[in-house]
Order: sequence, then C-alpha cells, then structure tokens
Amino acid sequence: MSDTPTFFSCSEEKPLRVLFVCLGNICRSPAAEILFNAALKKAGLEAKVYTDSCGMGGWHVGQKPDRRMLAALERHGYEWGGHLARQFSRIDFSEFDLIIPQDDSNKEDILSLALTEEEKAKVIPMSRWFPKTAPFREVPDPYWDGARGFDTVVELLEAATAEFVREIR
Ligand code: 4NP
Repeated sequence: MSDTPTFFSCSEEKPLRVLFVCLGNICRSPAAEILFNAALKKAGLEAKVYTDSCGMGGWHVGQKPDRRMLAALERHGYEWGGHLARQFSRIDFSEFDLIIPQDDSNKEDILSLALTEEEKAKVIPMSRWFPKTAPFREVPDPYWDGARGFDTVVELLEAATAEFVREIR
C-alpha cells in the first residue's frame, strides 16, 4: 500500500464499519478486533466505529477464539468480548466500509469474491499499519506454532491497530 496518509472518517450517525478477516477466525482476526477496540476506546472513538471479524474458512464457525490466543491476549492485558467464529460472506461487502485481511492469502480470497471496483477498494491489508521495523509483511499464522507465536501476533497487532486508529477521525 502507499504511504500517502489517508484518513477514515466516522461519526456516531455514520459509524465506520471495519471487518477483520483471517483464515479460521479463531486466532488473528478476533485478536485484531479486540486490540483495535482497545485502541479505539483509548482514542475515545468507540461509539463511532463498528467492528467485527470473520474467517475465510468455515471449520471453526460458532467457536470461541483458540485458547492459546486467549491466553496470549490475557498476558498482554486484554480479554475476549464474546465473539464466536463466523465465515466471510459476500454480504460483508455491503455491510462494511473497510475489510482488513490478515495475510496475502486472505486478501486474494476476498478479492476473488469482489464483483466491483468499489468492493475491491474496501480491502486493505493489515500490513499497511505495520511498524517500519516489523520483520513481517503479513500477520503470521500462529495456529501451528507454540505460545511465543501467539505473543508475537498480539504484539504486531497491538502496534498495527494503534497506528490504524491514528488514521481515523
Ligand atoms: P486464524 O488461524 O486464521 O488466525 O484463525 C487459523 C485457525 C485455524 C486454522 C488455520 C489457521 N485451521 O487450519 O483450522
């Protein structure tokens, strides 16, 4: 993505609707939503932004986030807000203003379902907000990793979501 500063506008009357997407909706995207909401609250924007998360796959629909992700979030001072996994659907293109894939594969899968340029333009990868020094170009999938992988994802998403909130007015 370009480095051109873009500001996303929001108001109580017309909240900005943001959807975080990963593969299973039990690790990265629910964490991104929790961390983003914490950053919104800090910025006093929580009433002006509506959030949700979902997965491209349907294997975990109806499940709580992975317990290893919940433990990593707890170690960093965050708690689960009750989200249960759901699968991305084409309806999400009309229900959300911004659709945020966590990795390149999620991005390609979402774009393959987009039918218009307007729908495609809603898709902005999470990596847009990574710190310049981050050794990643997408949010790594921690599912097959040990606990440290989950902490890494929380720390990366904590920095990225804080930066994202700085672009919301
Ligand atoms: P997520 O992680 O996309 O960050 O929720 C995964 C969860 C489940 C699977 C893969 C990744 N899975 O293969 O079931």
